[in-house]
Amino acid sequence: MFQKTRIWEKSDSPRMDAKFFSSRHDHILVYAKNIDTVEINRLSTTEVPSHYNKTDESGRRYYLKPLRAMGAEDDRASRPTLYFALTAPDGTEILPVRADGSDGRWRWSRERIDENPELLEWVNGRKGWAPYYKIFADTSTGTPPETLWRHEEVGSNRTSKIEMTQVFGGDKSFDTPKPEALVQRVLQIGSVEGDLVIDSFLGSGTTAAVAHKMGRRYIGIEYNGTAYSHCYPRLKAVVDGEQGGISRAQNWHGGGGFKFYELAPTLIVKDKHGNPVISGKYNAQMLVAAISKLNGYAYAPDADVFWKQGLSQAGSFIYVTTEYLTAAQLDDIARELPEYERLLICAPAFDIGLGKRYENINIRKIPQSVLDKCEYGADNYNLNIVNPPELDEEEWEDCEDA
Ligand SMILES: C[S@@+](CC[C@H](N)C(=O)[O-])C[C@H]1O[C@@H](n2cnc3c(N)ncnc32)[C@H](O)[C@@H]1O
Repeated sequence: MFQKTRIWEKSDSPRMDAKFFSSRHDHILVYAKNIDTVEINRLSTTEVPSHYNKTDESGRRYYLKPLRAMGAEDDRASRPTLYFALTAPDGTEILPVRADGSDGRWRWSRERIDENPELLEWVNGRKGWAPYYKIFADTSTGTPPETLWRHEEVGSNRTSKIEMTQVFGGDKSFDTPKPEALVQRVLQIGSVEGDLVIDSFLGSGTTAAVAHKMGRRYIGIEYNGTAYSHCYPRLKAVVDGEQGGISRAQNWHGGGGFKFYELAPTLIVKDKHGNPVISGKYNAQMLVAAISKLNGYAYAPDADVFWKQGLSQAGSFIYVTTEYLTAAQLDDIARELPEYERLLICAPAFDIGLGKRYENINIRKIPQSVLDKCEYGADNYNLNIVNPPELDEEEWEDCEDA
């Protein structure tokens, strides 16, 4: 599915610097991998749309739809049982007749008509009496979203700038923030509470902030300083119950939480001779976590046994060391390892023959053991390490100043 929606921004006058046309709207593109499985939520209506132009005796607004079927398969032959006479208020018998004079059919069966007389209304028009049925505003299940979204409903670029100022004060500008109400509408249409929302271009954090207030789970990704200067403080404010944006509409008063991760730098770099080596950006803990993960182990250091640093699903342990591994060291470890347990040791170098010394101990060379699982030279390398490094006070301040 692919659809364009326009966000209309009202301004007092056209942009005078426009060379040809002054653009007054943005676009949202809607995609689906498979349109057959797409479900679009309808928007609940608090205001009754103007086409509900009639009011019954109890004040309920409704509009009338012809009882005669119209469109595809509206002829008698398609549904013969829905062709029958109804009695108009003046006693005349009325049959469903198509515009071309041929036999048509009703939308409802005779039983349904008999059971719901209060929903029928007769109109005496140019062509005589015709039955209609009532559609009430308060029983409608909401309206399908339309392709034109007005700034009164979803905000505009100006709204989002004001929202930014509310959250951050005047000193944190961001070029392309979206208004919260706009993202709220997108999430209303495309998700329900508890769904997972992802924004891989988080910018100032609007999607995450709105998702949080709307009870959605979310993942936001941002590779720039705004992750620290905007997303983090904004989400903290949301958790603390900030009252900007859609907070009032969502009856938001704070709560919940979020986790903030940094992607690890690339694990392997080339040295000056072009050989792959472990990046100097990795400290010991990061290295163990990374190599454990790349070998299929969960990082879980044992408080008492230094060589039990991670565990595989099959119940095997992993030990990662940056030191040369000698036969004597291996023998020490082997003495402590029961025969029924298995251990993988990753080391940069080791004595010849160690790999075959013990049946239940496997030894691999770093970095060769993980080379085929690595990317090179990218600082946003996609390796999720356990316990990512936290920024210290000074680094936070640097980010905030940025
Ligand atoms: C147009 S802004 C997003 C605005 C955001 N929706 C808001 O309302 O605040 C796009 C953001 O995507 C970020 N970005 C661009 N390429 C990226 C990438 N490959 N990975 C992560 N973030 C990226 C940019 O740094 C920028 O902050």
